[in-house]
Amino acid sequence: MSVVTPVAAGPLSGSRAGFGAGGDRVARGSRSEPGERVETTGADLVYFSSVSGNTHRFATRLGEALGRPVARIPLHPGDGTLKATRPYVLVLPTYGAGNGPGAVPKQVIRFLNDPENRALIRGVVAGGNTNFGKAYGLAGDVVAAKTGVPCLYRFEVFGTQDDVEAVAEGLERFWTQQ
Ligand SMILES: Cc1cc2nc3c(=O)[nH]c(=O)nc-3n(C[C@H](O)[C@H](O)[C@H](O)COP(=O)(O)O)c2cc1C
Repeated sequence: MSVVTPVAAGPLSGSRAGFGAGGDRVARGSRSEPGERVETTGADLVYFSSVSGNTHRFATRLGEALGRPVARIPLHPGDGTLKATRPYVLVLPTYGAGNGPGAVPKQVIRFLNDPENRALIRGVVAGGNTNFGKAYGLAGDVVAAKTGVPCLYRFEVFGTQDDVEAVAEGLERFWTQQ
């Protein structure tokens, strides 16, 4: 079910210079638009989840297990933007159906195109489905490569209780090493 992926912590793409360096940059600006609502967060966990809510379920349980706050990247453009103010670990689902460039949800690309958000990311936890074979949890590898942080764990759909416990334990260790 779950695959622990201890990936080297060093920069894989050599920079934090821009999330979209490989063509993933979204057309809209990386900063908030004038008049757009900006929500700031000091949460240790930042996540994105689509309407199906699988990652929301996982991230919520993980936050409860850790006793730490979580913050959700808005789903719709009109919902405003999220701005991180402290280091965080990103939890995100994989999309794209095996197609690399589409693996990272556009809302996450937009969030990471903000230089301050990108500078504060410390690790990635990726959701996915093993039905997608080699593309299972690919979004974690893409974000890791583009931001130079480790992909710490993959989980399937909304994860099991074992996944939640393993990630909670791993993150407590990870944070003490930061
Ligand atoms: C259109 C579509 C494409 C997907 N592509 C992938 C994929 O390439 N790799 C993968 O591991 N999972 C893929 N998935 C599975 C999702 O990552 C999984 O369902 C996830 O739990 C969705 O999280 P969410 O409900 O929080 O959005 C895809 C799902 C959909 C609906």
